[in-house]
Amino acid sequence: MEIDIFTLFPDAFAWFERQRHVVGALARGSRLGYVNYRDHTPLSAGQVDDTPFGGGAGMVLRVDVVEAALRARYGRDPVELGRERRVIVLTPAGRLLDDELVDELAREAALTLLSGRYEGFDQRVTDHFTTDEVSIGRYVLAGGELAAMVVCDAVLRKLPGALGHEDSAFEESFSKALAGAPEYPHYTRPAEYRGWRVPEILLSGHHARIREWRQEQSRRRAERERGAPEPAAPEP
Ligand code: 6GU
Repeated sequence: MEIDIFTLFPDAFAWFERQRHVVGALARGSRLGYVNYRDHTPLSAGQVDDTPFGGGAGMVLRVDVVEAALRARYGRDPVELGRERRVIVLTPAGRLLDDELVDELAREAALTLLSGRYEGFDQRVTDHFTTDEVSIGRYVLAGGELAAMVVCDAVLRKLPGALGHEDSAFEESFSKALAGAPEYPHYTRPAEYRGWRVPEILLSGHHARIREWRQEQSRRRAERERGAPEPAAPEP
């Protein structure tokens, strides 16, 4: 997987690149590239943004600046780029990122992520240069860098070999294996701490019953998410 991130703050990704699963993905052939809009702006004094037509607060990233950065990286008209790779603009107005979208993106050979600051991008960037608009949740961040890291984190850990245990991505929260439900609770040693005992079933060695218990826990969490009343806990 090859991911290019367009940003005004490439330094923001230094910590992210040191994370173990990211280091591993890069060692297995994935690549993260950064393009700073400011390095390619056709405007003077490193200008990349401008005040919004019609008035209002904040600054808007200019379409000519984004085009120059895309052309510098890909050497062609960015209007054509969407035919060969997904070009994703990160915006709170986009499609909500969920496990299904992450899977979809993880199947791509290459992605381009556009992060913005200020009030976002000139709409013509979205209309003419991008294939997708993605949001990481219903709140507004000051910039797209954290959102870009969220997308990269979620996508890279889906790639083959990303996790020590191939199973841990398969039966994890929101996966098809758990019917889209959150994951069941986990416990480790000590088996008793301050009188808080680990559920007896997990110490029993009955793998089939443990699987059932976990699926039931996962279903309950899904119900709780939907706001359904909790069923009474069965006697242990
Ligand atoms: Cl992708 N960007 C920004 N700036 N804020 C967000 C977001 C993205 N997703 C949720 N909030």
